[in-house]
Amino acid sequence: MNLRALQRDFQSLYGRPAAGAVRAPGRVNLIGEHTDYNDGFVLPIAISRQTLAAYARRDDRIVHFASKQAESQIVPVDLAAPIARAEPTWANYCRGVAAGLLAAGVELTGADVLFDSDVPLGGGLSSSAALEVATALVLLEAAGARGAVAAADLARLCQKAEHDFAGAPCGIMDQSIAIMGQAGRAMLLDCRGNEVRHVPFDDPDGVLLVADTQVRHAISGGAYALRRQQCHADAAALGAKALREVDLPAVQAALAEGKLDAPQFKRARHVAGEIARTLQAVQVLGEGDHKRFGQLMTASHVSLRDDYEVSCEELDAIVDAALPVPGVHGARMTGGGFGGCAIILAHVSQAERITRIIQEAFAARFGRRCPIFATPATAGAGPLAME
Ligand code: GLA
Repeated sequence: MNLRALQRDFQSLYGRPAAGAVRAPGRVNLIGEHTDYNDGFVLPIAISRQTLAAYARRDDRIVHFASKQAESQIVPVDLAAPIARAEPTWANYCRGVAAGLLAAGVELTGADVLFDSDVPLGGGLSSSAALEVATALVLLEAAGARGAVAAADLARLCQKAEHDFAGAPCGIMDQSIAIMGQAGRAMLLDCRGNEVRHVPFDDPDGVLLVADTQVRHAISGGAYALRRQQCHADAAALGAKALREVDLPAVQAALAEGKLDAPQFKRARHVAGEIARTLQAVQVLGEGDHKRFGQLMTASHVSLRDDYEVSCEELDAIVDAALPVPGVHGARMTGGGFGGCAIILAHVSQAERITRIIQEAFAARFGRRCPIFATPATAGAGPLAME
């Protein structure tokens, strides 16, 4: 995938050249999983896999969306009429963002748009957030309204599109990192105050590997929503607005006092523990202690597997294969879980060996491939210089 090819495809699809293009990255979360909707902390990076969108402004109020991942079929959306969910469903992310920008008072213009993406669709790397954010930037650029919506507001607008138009009750992490990520840095996001701190994540001796189970699981499925409900019920039982307000001793005490039953306790223990681990992880990252950082990642996986129960056999198998290999600092599932990807933090000299060992173990157990790639922390979304 590259911009030049996208420009060529745009020309043949729309019969005129693209006027501009934008990119929006996928993400992996280093630590802080299932904490965003509990008002907690997350520590994601933007990755090298990304969604590109080429566009040219139109003089009417029709936006044509097309995606190379959907056979470049043109989906028209009339900005002058009420925008609602419709077929094809991939375009609902785009419809939702267009509706959100209009509701925010942005004067949008018509545009021809073509997307291309190498973020595996539904693969746990936030392909949907990348599509939403790319849509938002393209519509803003076409309307000459770059910067009209502040970054945090744009993240919320894209999140709302996902809630209302795709039926996925996601938190705020994915859209925030796709917009605000920085090259060479992880982003500590306080999901309560929306405060952001960028933390260097660019150790030349380190490598972050992303291993794809190729097990697909939509967060519009019931399990994610159920976890959210359980957390809110736990918080209410503890007299808190969100589990963010509750630390591990308080969770422990609530079990002893009978305020939480054993299953409720496990969910709350994950969230309180994960928030503490995330803050510790930022501290040890600042100290350059990648071994300790890796240990916190692995502890996060164990908690997601045993207490939060959102891992799966394939994710556990990748983590189990990676951990004993010399040079591996830590490994964990990333994102919502039930499939998707695992990440491995390791010494760069061992990257090839680790990749081979994981792939062999995975193939022996599941009889299929496990694609693995390395990624640095990349920049968040933005316009691209045309070639
Ligand atoms: C999905 C959601 C995020 C977050 C993660 C779990 O990726 O989109 O908002 O809740 O799951 O950390």
